Amino acid sequence: MKNILHVISSPRGSESFSVKLSNAVVEKFTEKFSGSSVTELNLSTDSFPHLDEAMIKAMRTPEDLLSPEQKDLLKRSDDAISQLKEADAIVIGIPLFNFGIPSSLKCWIDSVLRAGHTFSYDENGPKGLLSGKKVYIALATGGVYSEGPAKSYDFVGPYLHAVLGFIGLTDISIIRAEGTAMADLQQNALQKAISAIAI
Ligand SMILES: Cc1cc2nc3c(=O)[nH]c(=O)nc-3n(C[C@H](O)[C@H](O)[C@H](O)COP(=O)(O)O)c2cc1C
Repeated sequence: MKNILHVISSPRGSESFSVKLSNAVVEKFTEKFSGSSVTELNLSTDSFPHLDEAMIKAMRTPEDLLSPEQKDLLKRSDDAISQLKEADAIVIGIPLFNFGIPSSLKCWIDSVLRAGHTFSYDENGPKGLLSGKKVYIALATGGVYSEGPAKSYDFVGPYLHAVLGFIGLTDISIIRAEGTAMADLQQNALQKAISAIAI
């Protein structure tokens, strides 16, 4: 039995290609590992705060020197990190917004990348503190970025490998529903992506 963390970042609910695709990943995963438990985190309805001065200060304060207010401030981030640590597999549905990830997902990332909790530095440089977890990215894009003229604008794939790899999440599969805004591709975009899911 495995624990799956399913992160949703499209605000478009059941209309969303990335939600349909990430649901399909979760379904295939639970088919393979029956009895797995799924925790859903919908960032468009359950958002994380932007980092402000107080939060950054709290994140940089040693545990034993935290004030009660700072502990309160960090609670959401602490819980999100625990949720991530408990997961064996993380499925993240992402709509491409203006060549990047939705800001709601960036806020979650800013909450879970924390020195001493998910990464640390030693004499060899940065070290990710998470390990043994599989990550599936269900990425929906209006255009096509895996090949063709827009390939050099595929910032999200390399960004996710860098930022998730930084905390030790290095086993990442990106499944793409591409051309969701293109008349000739949108019809088959989802089905093509679903058939590319390999668990
Ligand atoms: C605010 C916004 C920005 C977008 N920016 C891009 C973009 O930069 N490139 C692109 O190919 N599609 C872009 N799209 C199209 C979405 O990536 C596409 O509709 C995708 O299917 C959205 O995912 P969802 O269906 O899971 O919501 C954008 C859509 C919205 C609403």
